[in-house]
Amino acid sequence: MFFRQRPAANATLSYFFGCAGHQMAIAVDVVAGDEDWFMAEADKAGVRITYVIDTHVHADHCSGGPDLARRAGASYHLHESNLGRTAFEFSPLHDGQRLEAGNVLVDVMHTPGHTPDSVCLLVRDLRRGDEPWFVITGDTLFVGAVGRPDLAGQEHEMAAQLHDSLHTRLLTLPAELEIYPGHQAGSACGAGLSGKPASTIGFEKRFNPMLALPREAFIEAVTAQIPPPPAEMAAIVAVNLSGKAPAPLAT
Ligand SMILES: [Fe+2]
Repeated sequence: MFFRQRPAANATLSYFFGCAGHQMAIAVDVVAGDEDWFMAEADKAGVRITYVIDTHVHADHCSGGPDLARRAGASYHLHESNLGRTAFEFSPLHDGQRLEAGNVLVDVMHTPGHTPDSVCLLVRDLRRGDEPWFVITGDTLFVGAVGRPDLAGQEHEMAAQLHDSLHTRLLTLPAELEIYPGHQAGSACGAGLSGKPASTIGFEKRFNPMLALPREAFIEAVTAQIPPPPAEMAAIVAVNLSGKAPAPLAT
């Protein structure tokens, strides 16, 4: 397996990984303007980009996913709850779906809360073992924090969903599993994020202050400490639902 974590604009973390042996790669949460980097990394690794995934429709940055998928001849994926919402066709993801890229397997977990369409990606490398090795958590679970639940409105309902996604899905994964989040410190998508860009399920369970809270206290805490919304949020979401390159919106 090869694996790259790319610190991108707006404290976003993007991912590029796959199976060099079978020459297949997966790009996750590509920020607009970074498409050339992904194409160059694919060349360097001698792979073709097979799947491009956004963990959710982003509100803080324009996605480069649709454009990269077009350039690479890859499929572009969003959660199926976006069907009918977008102005372009995408390959819908559903909970429990498995994407295969040679020896690298990606299982989709639907984890609503930050947004209704949020997914996490559970990754295994069959060259190393048949158990999951790491999970890409998007804006559901950060290092030291959790995703903000208000961007799609109905923040109390979404906070409750976030709690349940964390406790019934992510935190039931093995403690040694690595987590790779969608942002690090400096992001508008959550409060209190660490500047360290990776952790483990076990460490977060012990030391992430939000994960120790009972359900009602969690809902109260994540709705009380909501930071200001990302700049130009409505325009960014509109671009991301259009599937077009975001020329006028350099964010
Ligand atoms: Fe987000």
